[in-house]
Amino acid sequence: MKFFVDTADVAAIRELNDLGMVDGVTTNPSLILKSGRDILEVTREICDIVEGPVSAEVVASDAEGMIREGKHLVTIAPNITVKVPLTWDGLKACKALSSDGHKVNVTLCFSPAQAILAAKAGATFVSPFIGRVDDINLDGMELIAQIREIYDNYDFETEILAASIRSVNHITEAARIGADVITAPPAVIKGMVKHVLTDRGLEQFEADWAKTGQKIV
Ligand code: E4P
Repeated sequence: MKFFVDTADVAAIRELNDLGMVDGVTTNPSLILKSGRDILEVTREICDIVEGPVSAEVVASDAEGMIREGKHLVTIAPNITVKVPLTWDGLKACKALSSDGHKVNVTLCFSPAQAILAAKAGATFVSPFIGRVDDINLDGMELIAQIREIYDNYDFETEILAASIRSVNHITEAARIGADVITAPPAVIKGMVKHVLTDRGLEQFEADWAKTGQKIV
């Protein structure tokens, strides 16, 4: 399973990347807003840090505009993946950009039917949004499972990039189902290390070690 970080926070990306935890990065207009940075400048900086795919999202709503923006975004660095929305125009842009040899991430996927269209349009990645499906009291994880089943039925090459991840459990469940990639905020990825029994065990070891009066170095 590949780990993408869902952020435009350069310091957080660098910290995780130094640990070998970053196979790629995803950004979106809301994350760019949160970073307070210029999209081209911050995306270039991220691409300098991370070797894997860095998704940068178009903002035009028509196919022509998306293609124009996508072609500009790919000039930032060779590892740019153009992110387009799962609309009819987004699919047209996906087809055009992927036919030109660019990586495309089709985002805002909320149904297996949409995921089929993304694969047919040549998407490198499709991004089903788990958390936002859960937010409307449906089952985001079931969406991942349905897409996995369909893609496997037909050997579609598009990778399932499980997105809108809000918890460690989302990551574990997406991994069990066989999502190719997860993208999660840095805090959720770092949260994976936490376990109450690890903390309790460590406390005990520290207390017992102090009683020995020994030192290793
Ligand atoms: C994915 O590429 C999106 O940037 C992201 O996962 C959306 O997550 P959210 O629903 O928490 O905003």
